[in-house]
Amino acid sequence: MAHRLRIPHRFCKLQKRVPEPFIATATLGRQQHQFRLSTTAIPQRQEATTPIKQKTEFGSLPLSWPHKGWDDKVVQEVVPSHRKPRTRSDRIAWRVIRICRWGMDILTGMPPEPKAGSKKRSVTASKPMNEAQWLVRFVFLETVAGIPGAVAGGLRHLHSIRRFKLDQGWIKTLLEESYNERMHLLTFYCMYNPGRLMRFMVFATQGIFYNTMFIGYLLSPSFCHRFVGYLEDEAVATYTKCLGEMDKGHLPQWTDPNFKIPDIAVKYWNMPQHRRTMRDLILYIRADEASHRGVNHTMGNLDQASDPNPFIEENSGVSHMHLAATKPAGLERDEVLEKYTR
Ligand SMILES: [Fe+2]
Ligand SMILES: [Fe+2]
Repeated sequence: MAHRLRIPHRFCKLQKRVPEPFIATATLGRQQHQFRLSTTAIPQRQEATTPIKQKTEFGSLPLSWPHKGWDDKVVQEVVPSHRKPRTRSDRIAWRVIRICRWGMDILTGMPPEPKAGSKKRSVTASKPMNEAQWLVRFVFLETVAGIPGAVAGGLRHLHSIRRFKLDQGWIKTLLEESYNERMHLLTFYCMYNPGRLMRFMVFATQGIFYNTMFIGYLLSPSFCHRFVGYLEDEAVATYTKCLGEMDKGHLPQWTDPNFKIPDIAVKYWNMPQHRRTMRDLILYIRADEASHRGVNHTMGNLDQASDPNPFIEENSGVSHMHLAATKPAGLERDEVLEKYTR
């Protein structure tokens, strides 16, 4: 039988200010307890029709890697996918990602769902989350997503210096990926202000994940790229689920015609005047994730020491992000060597 703690009346208001995703329910023996995991205030409904805060310093932020923008057709055609594991290493990478997703779903209040590739997997959640819950999830995930590209690019840079060799064009794409993830994070940060506990969790996760990736990439870069490829499979599925919830009317603050997306997003993606809704923003970010998915599954297929990066634009002749977004399982090695070797 559920056990309810008696809360003095004066604490009730404080409790309401805590965002739902950070109230986790745990069952200890026969008793069920709720733990508050954040000190961040819930965005109020009337405030959420405009971004909660606009970081004015972002308005003049110089863009190191300006985004090339997205074609409507590419953006609309992105779909969740799952590259079937082919090797033992692939299966381990996928299982680790599934465990991480399971933990993240519990923490952020997303109902568990069937694994990728399952026919049961739907595009909408069985229990809709609100805007604040989605923002918590997005902010946390983007702080993680910005790490692998920086680690891989940094290590390949060191390798190049140490061995007095060029790097087959991989470094730029990897660092650009981490920059792109950082822009996702800064965009969501304009709409959600993390509390102290959230900031601590980001700090702790960053310390663990950065060092794990660093060692992992030294031991097996192809495993790490496959791991990130599966991470991006999940990212595409998550953003698709969010779009599905918007279309079903579960996120009224974001579908309100008066909702204004952050200026940094308009500037970074060079969003045209008629494409500046929250739905457009999520579509653009999902397309970016689809691009990372294609890049990392491809890199997981390649010989790490000698194969060229097919996403160097001089090689492919098209925007590398557009090419990668249309290749959910990545390019096969034979295809890369045949088409993109200069
Ligand atoms: Fe991202
Ligand atoms: Fe990504």
